[in-house]
Amino acid sequence: MELLDKLNWRYAAKAMNGKKVAEDKIERILEAARLAPTSSGLQPFEIIVIKNQALKEKIKPVAWNQSVITECSHLLVFAAWDTYTEDRINYMFDLTNEIRGFENEGWENYRQILLNSYPQKDSDENFNHAAKQAYIAFSQAITAAAFEGVDATPLEGFDPDAVDEILGLRKKGLRSAVLLPLGYRQTEEDWLVNLVKVRKPMKDLVTVIE
Ligand SMILES: Cc1cc2nc3c(=O)[nH]c(=O)nc-3n(C[C@H](O)[C@H](O)[C@H](O)COP(=O)(O)O)c2cc1C
Repeated sequence: MELLDKLNWRYAAKAMNGKKVAEDKIERILEAARLAPTSSGLQPFEIIVIKNQALKEKIKPVAWNQSVITECSHLLVFAAWDTYTEDRINYMFDLTNEIRGFENEGWENYRQILLNSYPQKDSDENFNHAAKQAYIAFSQAITAAAFEGVDATPLEGFDPDAVDEILGLRKKGLRSAVLLPLGYRQTEEDWLVNLVKVRKPMKDLVTVIE
């Protein structure tokens, strides 16, 4: 129940007050993103945390001038792999073997299945798949932020190519997928803060098959 209270408290803040979010809260929000499940456990994305105000100012005009970009405390950029490569797949399988301390035939066979499929696919298709995984982490970060009493504005209204250019993402094999400004709501400036949350009724969302 406590979780649902927090999810009702959260909303996509349209104005933030510039107050800094404590680093321990940011760390827990990032840890929630790190713990997100992903397809085959590949975690095919990185998260760029922008605290630098000048950089936020540069991004704002390519993000529809949305004020939360510069009013937030930390701007998270979820950047997905531009494609799946052999090295990237091997990195995660090797990491698993290293952390668990053993190799397993089934797991190694699965590695070969992925090596024989993803890298041969079109890079846009791979990026779209990777971006979906980034969104799972993004969603967990939003929930974790609510749990911490931190506002988060999910934000797709930006020019990804321009953000990639500003942050030099393409040369790192990354493409921006979605942004998440974290901070504190500025209630006097925000038209949305007092409006009732709108969600379709459960009957239009869920079909139960007995
Ligand atoms: C992927 C995604 C992208 C969004 N992009 C924007 C955005 O660019 N600007 C904005 O003000 N809100 C954006 N939103 C917020 C949604 O409009 C908002 O979550 C939705 O209307 C539900 O309202 P609530 O989050 O306040 O409960 C986005 C939400 C999601 C999940």
